[in-house]
Amino acid sequence: MDTTKTFLRSFETSDIKSLHQWSNDTRAILMVGRTPLTYEEVVQEVEKKKKNNDLLLAIENEENKLIGWVFLKDIDYAHGRASIGILLSPKARGQGYGKTAMKQMIDLGFKQLRLNKIYLTTRGANEHAIALYKKIGFVVEGKLRQHAYVDGNYLDTYFMGILRSEWEELVKSL
Ligand SMILES: CC(C)(COP(=O)(O)OP(=O)(O)OC[C@H]1O[C@@H](n2cnc3c(N)ncnc32)[C@H](O)[C@@H]1OP(=O)(O)O)[C@@H](O)C(=O)NCCC(=O)NCCS
Repeated sequence: MDTTKTFLRSFETSDIKSLHQWSNDTRAILMVGRTPLTYEEVVQEVEKKKKNNDLLLAIENEENKLIGWVFLKDIDYAHGRASIGILLSPKARGQGYGKTAMKQMIDLGFKQLRLNKIYLTTRGANEHAIALYKKIGFVVEGKLRQHAYVDGNYLDTYFMGILRSEWEELVKSL
């Protein structure tokens, strides 16, 4: 049983400063895949997501300290699906927070937004993220070959997904 606690609350404009820092961490750049972003570019990214009606939530730890964000984007109610994304501050990684926050967001997506499927894409090189996603029930639905160019190499990208029916079964054992 997981003992790590996270709290999800709405992502505020004042949180963007922290998001800007986490986004420019070396590992985040390597794993999410882009060049460093200016503060204004991060503001624009958040605005774009809000306009798109994406669900953006801030992640807080047991001490109510902001440690990351998690979001559902491309929410398509007609087909009952959405894509999930997560980014933690470098200091908060590897302590179970990612797993707990993902489970909370998935639960929210299935139970409150009535989604039928939640999916994501991740670089094949992101072993940590893939381990987390598999642990909480995502399955690899496809491999996009040499889909991303990182540090001089073309890397595969994995498309992973979980269905509500699978989640309802898994949640009993998680
Ligand atoms: C990916 C990320 C969200 C994972 O969250 P996290 O809190 O660091 O991960 P957790 O501590 O919950 O670990 C989840 C599982 O990953 C695996 N894991 C943990 N650390 C790992 C490591 N260093 N390498 C490989 N796998 C690891 C374990 O299986 C772990 O489960 P367990 O603790 O039950 O054994 C977080 O590290 C992050 O924000 N990384 C940078 C951005 C990123 O890669 N985002 C995802 C883009 S698709």
